[in-house]
Amino acid sequence: MSSIEQTLSIIKPDAVERNLTDKIKTIFTENNLKIKETKKLHITKDEASEFYKVHQSKPFYNDLCGYLSSGPIVVLILEGDNAVKINRKLMGATDPKKAEENTIRKLYGISIDKNSVHGSDSLENAKKEIDFFFKS
Ligand code: CMP
Repeated sequence: MSSIEQTLSIIKPDAVERNLTDKIKTIFTENNLKIKETKKLHITKDEASEFYKVHQSKPFYNDLCGYLSSGPIVVLILEGDNAVKINRKLMGATDPKKAEENTIRKLYGISIDKNSVHGSDSLENAKKEIDFFFKS
């Protein structure tokens, strides 16, 4: 069934630092995801903690928030048919070692922390995550 959705993608500090932004954007656009909005920013650790608060009970939470705020990131609103699912398929598994061939994390991820991209895991979270970065 056709369903036009929007989802949020974050190109994380490890990928921005290695100048992979344009390559990753091309993967999205070549796979029928339109980039509706994009901006580069450097968030604070408090902002990262707010963004990732669903993970606050996890042992990796502190490192995760420190990492996302460690350098510039690029945030994108992606739009297309089944955008949430398509984006997650293009990203691959959280741990680059377990990601399928030709996924973004397999191609560019360094470790489970430095895994190059984040993508919303559901339509509900996509709305919240888009608002977090783009609601004025
Ligand atoms: P992301 O999709 O941005 O969502 C939460 C992030 O936590 C995840 O990608 C990983 O980069 C990071 N992370 C670190 N350790 C783990 C872990 N053991 N399990 C899941 N995510 C982890």
